[in-house]
Amino acid sequence: MDATIVLLPGDGIGPEIVSQARRVLDVVAQRFGHTFEMPEHAIGGNAIDAFGDPLPEATLTACRNSQAVLLGAVGGPQWDDPNAKTRPEVGLLRIRKELGLFANLRPTKTWDELLDASPLKREIIEGTDILFVRELTGGIYFGESGRRPHPSGEEAWNTMIYSTGEIERVVRVAAQAARKRRGKLTMVDKANVLESSRLWRQVSERLIKTEFPDLAYNVVLVDAMAMHLISKPREFDVVVTENLFGDILTDEASMLPGSLGLLPSASIGSSGPGLFEPIHGSAPDIAGKNVANPLATILAVAMLLRYSMSMNAEADAIEDVVSRVLKSGLRTKDIACSGASVSTTQMGDAVVKTLLG
Ligand code: IPM
Ligand code: MN
Repeated sequence: MDATIVLLPGDGIGPEIVSQARRVLDVVAQRFGHTFEMPEHAIGGNAIDAFGDPLPEATLTACRNSQAVLLGAVGGPQWDDPNAKTRPEVGLLRIRKELGLFANLRPTKTWDELLDASPLKREIIEGTDILFVRELTGGIYFGESGRRPHPSGEEAWNTMIYSTGEIERVVRVAAQAARKRRGKLTMVDKANVLESSRLWRQVSERLIKTEFPDLAYNVVLVDAMAMHLISKPREFDVVVTENLFGDILTDEASMLPGSLGLLPSASIGSSGPGLFEPIHGSAPDIAGKNVANPLATILAVAMLLRYSMSMNAEADAIEDVVSRVLKSGLRTKDIACSGASVSTTQMGDAVVKTLLG
């Protein structure tokens, strides 16, 4: 198969980890007989510096014309000025919106090899395997916002707004995923306070009753969910929730496997290219030091091949190699506890070598 995969290295550690992912894609192409074209484009802070725009038109056009997009990370302290005209994060939010990527899939499972890298007790986290489905193009991230004068200075507001259709389509993605897993779906909201959550609850319950009566379905309030995630994470299979709750809960959940450095994510819409990225950020403190963990990005490549190109064997091969490399004891600094660690490129070398067999 011939495919174009757009690479968006972005800021901070983005370029280092994406270049390891590129090597992995090269090896997959070689081993399975594909041709991947992988043009690189700018996004985020470096795009602001070079083009004055965190999502230049050329980047968006290239992404639209591709089969899939692989992103490193965006953001950094040099672009954090609250008075700046634009921000790196705007590029990420816009590309999600422009490509219609309303469902963000964040699988969170613990790796047996790394149970001791988690700050949580082994007995609690062992066997955790959750798929978060976060709504990604609506809610308070995209609702009306503004500032106006106030006797005390100013006041500022954001609006959490959802329509029936926006809720239905993402709950449907989650329910379909649950059917292929353990058949359990949890919807997280704050229906005791928020009107938008009450709509989520109604729409979601109706949809599950009519289209997915076979699923074990429950609802949990987001504050309680924050607690359950670290007290009984094994209870959950697929968790669906709105944008902001999903952002927060998935960062919390990332501590279950021990490191953000191992968690990939897929953002998909109803058609067109998906966007795949590690869930960690640009980690400016370690950027350029060749110590970042490239495995989340490499696992994002596996998701990319699976979801955007139906290349299941290729995706399985990558996941299997990552697990073998971890079993062999190789660790980047973030997951090394106090033991020896390898660099970003050494971890990439090991993955590439094992993948070549
Ligand atoms: C994420 C990130 C983004 C988000 C930021 C960088 C805009 O935290 O992908 O979770 O909040 O969605
Ligand atoms: Mn986040």
